[in-house]
Parts: sequence; structure tokens; C-alpha cells
Amino acid sequence: MAKHWFERLADHMGEAYLKYSFTRGTQQEVDFLITALGLEPGMNLLDVGCGPGRHAHVFAGRGIKVHGIDISQTFIDIASAGASHSATFERVDAREMSYRSQFDAVVSLCQGAFGLSGNTQLPVPLDDPDGDILIRMAEALVPGGKIALTAFSSYFQMRYLEDSDTFFAEHGVNHEKTLIRNMSQDEIEDDLWTSCFTPRELRLLADKAGLSLQSMWSVSPGRYKKAPLTINEPEILLIAQR
Ligand SMILES: C[S@@+](CC[C@H](N)C(=O)[O-])C[C@H]1O[C@@H](n2cnc3c(N)ncnc32)[C@H](O)[C@@H]1O
Repeated sequence: MAKHWFERLADHMGEAYLKYSFTRGTQQEVDFLITALGLEPGMNLLDVGCGPGRHAHVFAGRGIKVHGIDISQTFIDIASAGASHSATFERVDAREMSYRSQFDAVVSLCQGAFGLSGNTQLPVPLDDPDGDILIRMAEALVPGGKIALTAFSSYFQMRYLEDSDTFFAEHGVNHEKTLIRNMSQDEIEDDLWTSCFTPRELRLLADKAGLSLQSMWSVSPGRYKKAPLTINEPEILLIAQR
């Protein structure tokens, strides 16, 4: 499997990923999603781009059977170290996953694979690479199953564009150089490529994936809530049903 640009970041960060402030709201996010997705003990959940498994472990603690997939072996190893019988982890590239009608729900949180395709090639491909991941997520669902994903908001990105950002207008992808820390506080500078979305784009991608859109809310990490869409929050939380 060819290396994805995020793997270099994950290899350097390791467990230090879990020290970043955006990971502090895991409990709140899981509480909210259990209700929004109608999850009950014994149900099967696929966590796409699960990282070191912070959500998967909390879902598993609530009796939900979780399968976490991620392209980073470093993150899969960290997730597996804390795994219980209700949480399993596997290195899988979401761009190639081929689950069929297996899961009651699928999540992709904090740009877990969906939103990290980093595509800035020209001409822009007709089939959106993040949209292709959404199609594969939809196929993994049983009929009637639900998806929750968070996507970075183009509105927010434009409104708060910083000098260190380069926004690829044709692709809707933001590039930034960022400092990544490991557990020893060693820093490296690396590239972050984030696909950004408007609610209208998400609606069209969900429709193309054969999903019936249920809701979209403006949220921040650790503050998931049923809030109307605005230009002031970094993420859009989409809930849709197969
Ligand atoms: C910002 S992290 C989010 C991790 C986790 N969902 C969370 O909320 O902490 C993005 C994750 O997506 C993973 N990822 C990116 N592209 C992927 C792909 N094509 N297939 C699987 N995982 C991918 C990265 O390795 C990383 O763990």
C-alpha cells in the first residue's frame, strides 16, 4: 500500500496525538452520536479513519461492537493495545475498503479519511475522491443504517484564513504547514491537506452515495449539538441514512 501523507504525521506523533486539545471532547461526541445514530448495545459500528481509537474505545465501553480502520499502522497499534473484545482494529485504506451491508452505523470523525484525500491534481477529477470514500461508507451500511461524518467547513476556512494557509480554490483543499509534536516534545514541520466542504456539496455527495440526508449541524470538536448551519463553526456534522 502506498504511503498516505498522513502516515508520516501519525508516525511522528504516536500517542502524543491524544494530547491535542481537539481530542478532549471524545465522551461528549460519543454521547451525542449514540443518540443521533440510535445506537444500542450489540449493534455493529465501523469507525473509518479511527486514529488511535479514541471514539472506538468509548463506543465499545457502551456495549457497541466497533471495527476501527485506519491507514496508519502506528495508530492501529496504539488502538489495538487498549482494545477490548468489542473493539477490533485493522489497517485499511478507506479509498479501497469494500464492506457490503455489514454495519448498523458508520462514522468518520474529525476528518477521519473523509476530507483527507488531499487532492490538488489538475484537471480536477470528475469523481470526487472524498465522495468516493462516502460511497464506500454507504455500501458498508445495512439498509436503514446511518452515517455520521464531520467535514471541515469551507465557510469557516475562508472566514478565518491565516497567512500560513494556501487555499486551492479549484479543489476546495486547504494546505498549511504545521508543527507536529511527539511525546518527547520533538517538533517537526509538515504539510496538512484538508478538503473543505459547503453544506450544498455534502448534500450532493450524500445523494450520489444513495444516502438520505437527515440533518447537518455546525459543530466544534467536543461540542456536538443540534445547531443550525453557520459560517462560524469549523465542522459540519452530517447524519444520513441508507
Ligand atoms: C485527524 S485524524 C482523526 C482520527 C480520529 N477519527 C479522531 O477523531 O481522532 C485523521 C485520521 O484519518 C486517517 N486516514 C486518512 N486517510 C485515510 C485513508 N485513506 N484510509 C484510512 N484512514 C485514513 C489518518 O491516518 C488519521 O488517523
